[in-house]
Amino acid sequence: MKTNDLKANIRHLLKERNAIFLAHNYQPPEIQDLADLCGDSLELSIQAARTEADVILFCGVHFMAETAAILSPEKTVLLPRPDAGCPMAEMIDPVSLRARIDELPPMPVVTYVNSSAAVKALSTICCTSANAVAVVESLDAEAVLMTPDRNLARYTAARTKKKVHVWEGCCPIHDRLSPEDVRRAREAHPGAVFMAHPECRPEVLALADVITSTSGMLRTAAESDSSRFIVGTEVGLLYPLKKANPAKEFFAASERMLCEDMKKISLQDVLKSLEQLHGRVTVPEDIRRPAFAAVQRMIDLAL
Ligand code: 13P
Ligand code: SF4
Repeated sequence: MKTNDLKANIRHLLKERNAIFLAHNYQPPEIQDLADLCGDSLELSIQAARTEADVILFCGVHFMAETAAILSPEKTVLLPRPDAGCPMAEMIDPVSLRARIDELPPMPVVTYVNSSAAVKALSTICCTSANAVAVVESLDAEAVLMTPDRNLARYTAARTKKKVHVWEGCCPIHDRLSPEDVRRAREAHPGAVFMAHPECRPEVLALADVITSTSGMLRTAAESDSSRFIVGTEVGLLYPLKKANPAKEFFAASERMLCEDMKKISLQDVLKSLEQLHGRVTVPEDIRRPAFAAVQRMIDLAL
């Protein structure tokens, strides 16, 4: 089928099924162009909680669609490629989290949304890269356990007086950016603003001009007087950055920052998913209820 026919069929089915099409900022260009809303994990969670659509078509990775299913159990949530996972989310499981909780004195567990529903269900509250520091600050406790991203936990620890216990997981894509890569990019693009995602290593964040989520980078680029940026996150973000700021220049901090899971979904997959309700994501109620409490507590903070 030709691309234009594919797009027309997708639009038609979206209407027919009363579906909303959400896409993460790292998704391929043709997916972002067709979506009703592109955003970072926090914006997409909020939209998934608010929407009045019957179907949420989620283009991202599994934990994102699962978060939508946690928030809106009465809706049909579709992930067109059920095999699009997140390697960081797989670095923690409920059994090892339970063991760590039992080892530590009682304290809140703050879990990054990049995690399974079963891990969220054991957590006090969730956070995203856009609100991690504020979530930890909101808690009435001297110490917290942050899972599963050690880099986000260390970034947070440096910005709060609370003791942060760290889970040793990471995003392999962000963790592979080295200070040497940043120095090379700065040499190649003198004067450019270096924006880094908090999933990057502390030694990389130490070199950053701005540390923020993917949508934070989009806002920074739009509002800044600077016209050249080195982008320290997954390379998919270059597309919306360039699209929204055609007069500005954006350079990848490293071309190696490519998340294969974020590139799995094609327009054909979207069409199949809408036609056959393929890739439906559900969460068993005994896990969904406690997971919902952790995600909703974060959303209620309205940070
Ligand atoms: P944000 O878009 O929330 O910054 O998340 C980045 C990420 O790695 C999602 O997989
Ligand atoms: Fe997971 Fe990293 Fe890919 Fe985001 S970029 S989905 S955190 S592996």
